[in-house]
Amino acid sequence: MVPQWIIEKKRDGHVLTEEEIRFFINGYTNGTLPDYQMSAMAMAIYLKGMTPGETAVLTDAMMRSGAMVDTSAISMPKVDKHSTGGIGDKVSLILAPLAACAGLAVPMISGRGLGITGGTLDKLESIPGFNVNLSEEDFIATVQKCGFSMIGQTGEIAPADKKLYALRDVTGTVSSIPLITASIMCKKMAEGIDSLVLDVKWGTGAFMRTVEDATALAESMVRVGKAMNKGMVALITDMNQPLGHTAGNALEIIESLECLQGQHADGDLMNITLALTSEMLVLGKKAQTAEEARRILLGHIESGAAFEKFKEMAELQNADVSFLDDVGKLPQASLVRDFPAPSSGTLAGVDAESIGRAVLVLGGGRQKTDDRIDYAVGTSELAKIGEHVEAGQPLVRVHANSEEKLAQAMAYIEKAFTLADESTAAPTPIVARITG
Ligand code: URA
Repeated sequence: MVPQWIIEKKRDGHVLTEEEIRFFINGYTNGTLPDYQMSAMAMAIYLKGMTPGETAVLTDAMMRSGAMVDTSAISMPKVDKHSTGGIGDKVSLILAPLAACAGLAVPMISGRGLGITGGTLDKLESIPGFNVNLSEEDFIATVQKCGFSMIGQTGEIAPADKKLYALRDVTGTVSSIPLITASIMCKKMAEGIDSLVLDVKWGTGAFMRTVEDATALAESMVRVGKAMNKGMVALITDMNQPLGHTAGNALEIIESLECLQGQHADGDLMNITLALTSEMLVLGKKAQTAEEARRILLGHIESGAAFEKFKEMAELQNADVSFLDDVGKLPQASLVRDFPAPSSGTLAGVDAESIGRAVLVLGGGRQKTDDRIDYAVGTSELAKIGEHVEAGQPLVRVHANSEEKLAQAMAYIEKAFTLADESTAAPTPIVARITG
C-alpha cells in the first residue's frame, strides 16, 4: 500500500477500507510510517470526518496496537465509567466503591490532570502511601478481592494512541470526533470490560463547549462500543460550574469521603454520581431499573459500607487509611482566604474554567509535564448557581501555599462569579441520555 494514496483518498472525502486504516495505525505504531504522513492523515480525518464503520475500525486498530488487560479471572460483571473531564469532577472516587458494594467489578484505569482539569490519580496520591502503579497481576487481584481498583495507564496499553495523541496536540487535530472517539475508546476497550458508562460533559469547563458537540461525541462513542459488543450508555452532564463544592486534590478527596458518608446528598455531584452508578448497575444486571439501583446505592451509603469499601481498596493499594478516618491529617494549605460577594443577589454564573485556572496557578495542576503537584491547594465551600447571597458572604474559600500564588489565583476567582438581581435556576445536571 502507498501511504500518500491513502492520505489523498481521505483528503478527497472517500471512505477508507479496513486494510487501509490498519496499515496506517500498524505502520505508525511500529515506526515504518513517519510522523509527517500520520499528521497529514490526522488532518484529513479532522477535515473530512469518518463514517461510524471507519471510526470503529480505527478504534479497534489502536486498541490492538498494544496489550489488553486480561480480566478473565474476575468473576463479577466488569463495568467501568469514563468522563471526558471537568473541574471538581471527583465522581470516580464515589462511584467506584458504590458500584463495588453492589457486586460489580470496576477495573478503573484513570488519568492524571490534563490542562485545567484534575485527574483521579493525582487526587488519590494526596493520600500518603497510595500506590497507583500496581502490576497488572496486583490490579486484577485487587479488583477480585474488593470489587475495584484505580491505577494509572500501564505502558503497554494502546501505544498508537500515546503517539497519535502527542502528534494531534501539536498539529491542530485534537478536536475531531472520530479521533477523540478512537482515542478514548481504544483505552477503555483494552481494559477488558463488559460495559461502559460515559459521562460526556458540556460547558465552559469541558472539552465540548455545547450540548450539540457533547451529544455528537457521546453518540459516536456509544456506537463504537456497541459495535464492539459492549453495553453502553452515555449521560450528557453540565460543566458550566465546577462539580460539587471543591476543586483541588486533597480537598476533593475530603468531599468524596463526605459523600460516601451521606453528606451533600442533594447536590449536583451526588445527583450525577448516583445517575451514572445506577446506569452501571442496570448494565451489569445488578438492578432492573435505575430507581431500584438508586435505592440499593443509597442503602450502601447509609449502612457505612460505601465508605468502608473505599478504605478497603485504599489499604490494598498501600495507603495509610488513618488519613481517611481523620482527614484533618491530609495536606493542608498554610493560607486560607475567603472571597466575599461584592454585592447581594443571585448567583447567575460560576465559571468552571476560571476556577480551574485558579487551581492550576495555585499549584494544584501542572504547568509543565514534570511539575510536582501541591496536593493541599485549591478551592472549597464554593457557592452554586441559583443561590441567593448577601454582600460580604463568602462565595469560595481559596487554599494557597504562597501569597504570590494566592494573588494570581484571586485574579481568576474575581472573574468567576456573576451576580444578578433576578432569580436564576440551578443548571440541569443531566441534559440527555444516549443509548445509541
Ligand atoms: N481524552 C483522550 O484520551 N483522548 C482524546 O482525544 C481526548 C480526551
